[in-house]
Amino acid sequence: MKLFLFGATGWIGKQVLEVLGKIASEYQVFALTANRKEDRLLKILKKWKAKYGVVTGKKTGKYRELFYGTEKIPDLIEESDVILFACAGTSLARYLFYALEKNKKILLSNKEIIVSFGEIMSQKYIKKILPIDSEHSSLFQLLKKFKFSEIKKVAITASGGPFFRRKSLKRITIKQALKHPVWRMGKKITIDSATMMNKSLEIIEAHYLFKIPPSKIDVIVHPQSIVHSLVFTNDDTVFANMFYPDMKYPILYALGFPERKPNNFRKIDFENLKMNFYTLNRKENKAIDMGYFSIENKKGYPAVLNFANEEAVKFFLKGKIKFNQIIPLVEKTINSYKPFKVKTLDDIYGIEKWTRNKIREFVK
Ligand SMILES: NC(=O)c1ccc[n+]([C@@H]2O[C@H](COP(=O)([O-])OP(=O)(O)OC[C@H]3O[C@@H](n4cnc5c(N)ncnc54)[C@H](OP(=O)(O)O)[C@@H]3O)[C@@H](O)[C@H]2O)c1
Repeated sequence: MKLFLFGATGWIGKQVLEVLGKIASEYQVFALTANRKEDRLLKILKKWKAKYGVVTGKKTGKYRELFYGTEKIPDLIEESDVILFACAGTSLARYLFYALEKNKKILLSNKEIIVSFGEIMSQKYIKKILPIDSEHSSLFQLLKKFKFSEIKKVAITASGGPFFRRKSLKRITIKQALKHPVWRMGKKITIDSATMMNKSLEIIEAHYLFKIPPSKIDVIVHPQSIVHSLVFTNDDTVFANMFYPDMKYPILYALGFPERKPNNFRKIDFENLKMNFYTLNRKENKAIDMGYFSIENKKGYPAVLNFANEEAVKFFLKGKIKFNQIIPLVEKTINSYKPFKVKTLDDIYGIEKWTRNKIREFVK
């Protein structure tokens, strides 16, 4: 099967290629993208003998074996069997829609696209997506076992990040915020884990992927990140899905679906297992509260939340704002937004433009 891997130079891209090399050998790496890291992309292209490499963040052209810009992407999607979206951000969202239209098998780790565009994605499309985000892969696996009417609620877990219940966030440095206690990830998602915005986006993602109302999605803080999601059935039985915090588990599950493949990943050592859980009230955490608010109200709010957060994180990583300004800045942007019924891709792109401009105005 021909695989088109978006975001091959990122952390998830790296994990995908490792899984492919060791286990899922039925895949042929056909095409790869990076945003700008073309030398790294070229190395990966050669190592995996991929046919095409695309540097999406550069102006159209061709240099060495690589295509620049996005012009070539639709043709490559048509030639591929499976599309794996592990690129960050939403700039390539229209190609996810294109691949969905072309009925391709879609594996998705990118949560920003679901959060921002979920409001205009039909169920027909959503059902074609196999999630790779760990909590959603976990929920996908559990929910298959029950009728919708049997489910009382679900919960996704959060590690809590490096600053869970820390009283003052005043002096957090970029270096401290980029040090996640459990997961290794790209920079943006690591900051999102530290602010808990990652979980906020995941509540929205779970809502769109599984059609679960916000009132039936809980967040439980579980610092060890071994349980990834829970399903509570009507008879108050709780089903949990467990694996060590290693993205190779959900990646392999999605690549192998519907089969389950044996692997050499770290196995749970029950003799030495220590797990803690803390329930989290949305009022305790502004980022989480904004996630619930966004899906309760829709009308573009989830998109604003995502774009405002992306922009605020960029400002933080550039040293222009402090860590404890990220969430208030997102909140201020949400509060200035005038909601409307979004219907098209262009509506979302319009919201993106408005949001990024607004937040730049605030930071000036
Ligand atoms: N890391 C995790 O454990 C994890 C878990 C669940 C979900 N996710 C999601 O998976 C996605 C990737 O995360 P990651 O941790 O692998 O991020 P990452 O290490 O920062 O890698 C991001 C990848 O996307 C490319 N990229 C960056 N900005 C882009 C843009 N504007 N347009 C197109 N491509 C762009 C990068 O290319 P360059 O290298 O050229 O910049 C790179 O290949 C994110 O949506 C994240 O939320 C990640």
